[in-house]
Formats: sequence, C-alpha cells, structure tokens
Amino acid sequence: MTNVPNGPTRSPSCYPARSAWSNSSDGAESTVEIPVQLASERTDPRTSNAALVQKYDAVAYAAQSNALSHPEHMAVVATLFGLEPADVASCHVLELGCSNGANLLPMAANLPEAHFVGCDLSPRAIAAARRSLAELGLDNVAFFQGDLSALPEAMGEFDYVIAHGVYSWVPASVREAMFALAGRRLKHDGVMFVSYNVYPGCHVRQAVWEVLRLHIERIDGAPARLEAARAFAAALAEPGATQNPVDALLRHEFKRVAQITDSALYHDDLAEPNDPVYFREFAAHAARHGLKFLAEAKLAMTQADASPSMQRFLAGRDRIEREQLLDFAQLRRFRQSLLCRADSATGFAIAPERVAPMWIGASAQLLRTVAEGKPPVGAGQAGAPTSDEEWMLAIAPETMPVSDVAARLAWSPPAETRRSLEAILVDACVQGSLRLSLRPPALVAVAGDRPKAGSFARWQAGHGVAVTNLQHETMQVRDANALRLLALLDGNRTRGELTLAMVDALPGWERAAVAQRIDEYLAQFGKLALLVA
Ligand SMILES: C[S@@+](CC[C@H](N)C(=O)[O-])C[C@H]1O[C@@H](n2cnc3c(N)ncnc32)[C@H](O)[C@@H]1O
Repeated sequence: MTNVPNGPTRSPSCYPARSAWSNSSDGAESTVEIPVQLASERTDPRTSNAALVQKYDAVAYAAQSNALSHPEHMAVVATLFGLEPADVASCHVLELGCSNGANLLPMAANLPEAHFVGCDLSPRAIAAARRSLAELGLDNVAFFQGDLSALPEAMGEFDYVIAHGVYSWVPASVREAMFALAGRRLKHDGVMFVSYNVYPGCHVRQAVWEVLRLHIERIDGAPARLEAARAFAAALAEPGATQNPVDALLRHEFKRVAQITDSALYHDDLAEPNDPVYFREFAAHAARHGLKFLAEAKLAMTQADASPSMQRFLAGRDRIEREQLLDFAQLRRFRQSLLCRADSATGFAIAPERVAPMWIGASAQLLRTVAEGKPPVGAGQAGAPTSDEEWMLAIAPETMPVSDVAARLAWSPPAETRRSLEAILVDACVQGSLRLSLRPPALVAVAGDRPKAGSFARWQAGHGVAVTNLQHETMQVRDANALRLLALLDGNRTRGELTLAMVDALPGWERAAVAQRIDEYLAQFGKLALLVA
C-alpha cells in the first residue's frame, strides 16, 4: 500500500472547496483555511467520509479507555519535559474521533469541574455516546457528530486534545484538518495526544494487510470479509516452507491477525485508509501547523534503550532525528506521541527534579507482574531498594507524595549511585513499575462502612463486562456477582445491606458466607482502583 502524502505537499488548488475560519486564538487578522475532502477522496469508495461512516455502521468500533491519553497522564509527561500544563481538574478537553465516548466519558465522570467535547463522524457512535451521557447524567460533556473540520468555533479552545486511532486511519485531507484545528485551538502550554502507525515496523504489518485485502477484494459484506480474512490469516499462520527462513516471521503476524477481535481486524488491519508514516514526516506535518513533538506518552519509549553501536549513531542528533533513528533501531510500528505548541518551552529529556511536587505509587504493570508471580522489573534495577516497590504495592492503588518517599521509606540513595532520589524514581516510572500523578488520585484501597465505587464503573457494571477503573484502565470483569455488587456500591448501603441485596444472587449460600464473599470482592475492587472515599 502506498503512503498517502500529507496535504500541504500538494498545491492548495487541489482543494476544490474550503471553509475559512478566522483565527480567534491570538486575535490576529489571519484566517486559517481548513481543507474539506479532496475531490478524489470524496468519490473514492475506500476513503470518502460516506464510506467511513458505512464501515463504522457495519462493524461497531470496540472503543475503550486509553490511560496514556488521560489529561492527568499527559500533564505528568508534559511537566517532566518542562511544560506548565493546565490544571487537569478544571481543564478543557477535546477528543477527535471519540467513537462512543468510551475514553471521554470516564474522564468526565471523574473530573466534574473539567469540560469535555467529543467529535466523531459516525452517527451510530455519537448516538451511543449521547445515550450513555444521558444515562450517566453528566453535564460537562458535549458531543458533536460530523467531520472534525466542521467542529463549531463556539466549542472553544482546549488544554488537551486527543486523537487516538485516527491519524493513520483517515484520508490525508482529514489529517490536515486535524492538525490545522489543533494548531489553532490548542491553548498555550496545551498538549495533544496523537496515536498513529509508523514505519519501519509497519512494513511487516503492511505485507500482511495487503495479502488479506487482495484475498477478500471480491467479497462483499463485512461479516463475509471478516470471516474470509480470518480463515486465510489462520491458514497462512501455519508452519510451512518459505523461500527464505527469515520470512517465517511473517507467520507470527498472520497468527496475531487471525486472533484479534472483529473490530480490530476490520478497522485496523483491513482498514482503508491505513497509512503509516515515518516519524520525521509526522513531526514535519505537525510543524507546518505550529505544533512540535513533546514526548512519547508511553514513558518507556522516551528512553534510548539502544545498543552501544546505535548509541554512536544517536550522539549529537537533534530530537527529531534521534526519535527517527530509535524507530529504525527498535523497528517501531506504533506511536502515541504528545505534541505541544511550537512556541512552548520544552526540554530535550526528562528533568527529574520536576517530579518533586508529584505523587507516586505502584503502576498497574507492577501490580499485574506481582499478581502473576513474576519478579518485578523496575525500581530495584534502577538502584533503589526493592522495599520502595513493596511499600508502594502495600498501599496500592493509593499513592504518596514524592517529597515523603525518603522519610517514609527511611531511605536515600547510597552515595556511590551519585543519583538523586528523584532520578531513581523517574527511572522506575520509565521502566513501568511506578506511576506519577500531579494530584493524589481520588480513590481508596480499603472500602469504608458504606463502600462506594466510582460512578462510571458502577454504571458500566449494569451494561456489560468492560469496567474502567479510576486510573482510566479498562478491564473485563466476567463474574456476574462481582458486577452485581459493583453496581450496588453507591455509598448508601452498609455491608449488612449489601449482604441482604446479594443473598438472591448467591442461592443456597449462608448469610455469613455471602458477607465473606462481599469482603473478598471489596478487597479486590480496592486493589483494582475501583473504590472512592
Ligand atoms: C479507529 S476509530 C478510533 C476510535 C477511538 N478514538 C479509539 O481509539 O478507541 C476512528 C474513529 O474516527 C472517526 N472518524 C473518522 N473520520 C473522521 C472525521 N473526518 N471526523 C471525525 N471523526 C472521524 C471514526 O468514525 C471512528 O470512530
């Protein structure tokens, strides 16, 4: 598949119709012109907006929360790289391609003083988002159904803009409109999250995409296309002779594709458009709209984990060249990048001293690792005693101020490490075992007398198995009794009342056994970051 060039490389006269918006962000007289779809894109059955709408109607997108796109996480990374991001509690957030609101609504439920706008082309997705919004009774969210280039001016400017799973999956003119919009409506020291497919890793994926698309090119209808693609991918995943032994690696990719959900297969691997880019093209595209690369949202990707010979190639490079070389070195296929305004003052690397006013705790990754019985990787390796991990695990999911860590752990870095406590804690965060926040998270590890779960998770428990916790991570809870209990945790019921309410769900159980089961569930909910004070 060829990579569609970004809009500005084409002559402006390519755009047959435009809508001009005056640039109100800085009071300047200039106007910024937002291209609507290119004529060729409008009529191309693969890339027109109408075709995209049909695809999302045919197979609903299984959207879910992405913790890396949460404003709190963006604010932490932005702060580490030198920005002074807006206070998350009262910020303005825009999500482009928000689908059914699965990412935006839990943010809004937990940040009642903040304001959220979700925009999506798909009437089906926005109808679902509005239904959920009405049921949740939130008054801090507005959904706009339509092309993102038509987002009304009245919806204002934003501290945080999220575009997850959109950039590579829309036509070039929409990518253009997306950055034009962010370039104009991202506030000073605002942060934009953009996820996208990248080369060189996607060359491997692209080989698989093309084979599958060729196989199904004459098959009509989403169910039949999915079935045929999945069956063919499974067949190609089986061991067999290849011209070159190394080509057998492609079989792993076919195997992965054969096993993913319908939503991921249809809207990612089989999707058209699905245009990976080289990172430097992406950065140049952002720069044309007054935006610049701030950092990767995933802190692990901010560290140059490169071989000594690769380190020599990296030395002396500027930020963009360095990131591009790291993509080559690590054969990266997907990025979740944070952008900011080109005129924002930012650093080249993390400034460890900036963690001093933050809060720190065990990450979900560390909790999972420990639950699986594996030795944790992270703070211990970075030079801190493993007791800090144990401490964080003991209080998880609650956190402690970074400024208290030395006193509460009665520990400071040994002189021979020549590193500050802050630098060691940052390493542990980069390696994924600890996580930072700018404020103490509004959650409790231990249920009170009248246990209370977050309102969004409580609402979800009545609708399916997906549950989003207060750290914005979504898990599948396949235990009907756990879901039933979760839905009851509105903070009004005592444990005795909860026991009475659950007796029906556990027929044949003694009351004492029901009460004990409830205690066990509550302990799990606490560790899973589902409970509030
Ligand atoms: C792959 S889905 C990603 C959904 C969600 N952000 C996520 O990652 O879970 C892409 C979304 O972008 C929306 N979209 C595509 N073109 C758009 C446009 N021109 N304006 C607004 N939304 C668009 C689609 O309807 C779809 O919901």
